[in-house]
Amino acid sequence: MEKVYEGKAKIVYKTEDPDKYILYFKDTATAFDATKRAEVEGKGELNNNISSLIFQLLEERGIRTHFIRKLSSREMLVWRAKRFELEVVVRNISAGSLCKRLGIEEGKPLEKPLVEFFYKNDELHDPLVCYDHIILLGLLKEEQIHEIKHITFRVNEILREFFSQHGLILVDFKLEFGQLPDGSLAVVDEVSPDTCRLWDAKTGEKLDKDRFRFDLGDLLEGYRKVLEKLQG
Ligand code: TMP
Repeated sequence: MEKVYEGKAKIVYKTEDPDKYILYFKDTATAFDATKRAEVEGKGELNNNISSLIFQLLEERGIRTHFIRKLSSREMLVWRAKRFELEVVVRNISAGSLCKRLGIEEGKPLEKPLVEFFYKNDELHDPLVCYDHIILLGLLKEEQIHEIKHITFRVNEILREFFSQHGLILVDFKLEFGQLPDGSLAVVDEVSPDTCRLWDAKTGEKLDKDRFRFDLGDLLEGYRKVLEKLQG
């Protein structure tokens, strides 16, 4: 298969249909601009499983995504998308870079969900950008910013409820957006413990990539617990 793009955690391949691509989930785990890196056998499979499950849920709830179907343990069939060079982060509880940037203690519930935009640019280390920066850089048009924020809040409602029903707290997560061949705006990339902070609702145990970032415990064990809870 012809490679379209290779990222840190996934490879995108062409198919016979020019409008459809295959996402291949790798076992590579990276953090801090890939200065920390490891091969974690089985991570790709878990992230494909969890992402597929979540995309299916979002589609059922009327959120457009690039997901078509899960093809195999590590592969997902998706619509070709023109990806925006932005990461959209939603936070329900303080953690990660929010705590570092603003000097807030970890674990404080936020009065209302907070949305932040980051410019996807490795050289600049994915800086936080405001509304006017996004316009200045030509990353999105004004109406797209509003539409994306609207979709993002809705996704947060859906996922918060879903995870909570399965004994998990959705602390924060990252979404990426793109334009599908039919022109519609869609959630793309992946939604997995690589891109979400998920805490066990009973024990508070961190089950996401923070285990790898901060050496908190076995990465796969956390991701497996997430999948088991979602399936159970
Ligand atoms: P942050 O607190 O480090 O800004 O991360 C916020 C959320 O975004 C967290 O759930 C992890 C996710 N995230 C990614 O998916 N990719 C990234 O490159 C970073 C930095 C965070």
